[in-house]
Amino acid sequence: MDRGSAEAPIGVFDSGVGGLTVAREIMRNLPAEHIVYFGDTARLPYGSKSRETIVMFSRQIIRFLQTQDVKAIVIACNTASAYALDEVSREGGLPVIGVVKPGARVAAEATKNGRVGVIGTQGTVGSHIYRDLIQKNDPRITVIEKACPLFVPLVEERWIHDPITRQVAERYLAEMKSQQVDTLVLGCTHYPLLRSMIGEVMGSSVTLVNPAYEAAQELKRLLEREGLANPGTDEKEFPYRFFVSDLAENFKEFANSILPYDVGMTQKIDIEEY
Ligand code: DGL
Repeated sequence: MDRGSAEAPIGVFDSGVGGLTVAREIMRNLPAEHIVYFGDTARLPYGSKSRETIVMFSRQIIRFLQTQDVKAIVIACNTASAYALDEVSREGGLPVIGVVKPGARVAAEATKNGRVGVIGTQGTVGSHIYRDLIQKNDPRITVIEKACPLFVPLVEERWIHDPITRQVAERYLAEMKSQQVDTLVLGCTHYPLLRSMIGEVMGSSVTLVNPAYEAAQELKRLLEREGLANPGTDEKEFPYRFFVSDLAENFKEFANSILPYDVGMTQKIDIEEY
């Protein structure tokens, strides 16, 4: 395996399609990097599963990504980052980063009134990882957490600008507004796709933190630090490959709706073998 090679791809994984919001930020911000994306479409959602299960799934996926000779791994899923990052970091000698730490750090820096909101899946919110990391940055910050599980199916239904999604958002976010948070972390892969609606509901004075973007910035720093940034000389090959554990039609449709690339060549693999 050509670990350590700057030309090697970045492994990115998620429970399904949502992590494409992270892949998209890597594509935009690190255009020379190649990506191997894995979406665990057969076993989603992760947000309602236990820590043990998510750690086991994450280990299998990392073993699969290692067979693809990746040079670093990004856990795009907030739930998997919350539950598994500490257990799997430096698995097999590869640098592994998640989305939670970069998101928490930027949220702690962004707040002016010391009141930060965090929204995510039941798993992410129940782990209190964002709260703990934000308060590690600054113990004076009050963190208000709220699980918003309905946002995931609404986004996958692509009801991004739908009045029903707006009603759901108003209901979920009412507490964040009454608690006067000035910073809100979009702590789930799907939520950046609702950014404009969430922004409208919260009001323009509230800073929205997108962990997908912050993770791409963190990756950039990591690759530079470790001398692993792709010099971008190999332009012949299509730089992105997509794998899933169940070839649901939904993956391609959704992926094609948010990425400017055709993911028609997505391959199905048996993740349980890893
Ligand atoms: N990818 C998950 C996350 O960011 C959301 C979808 C799921 O529950 O699997 O937490």
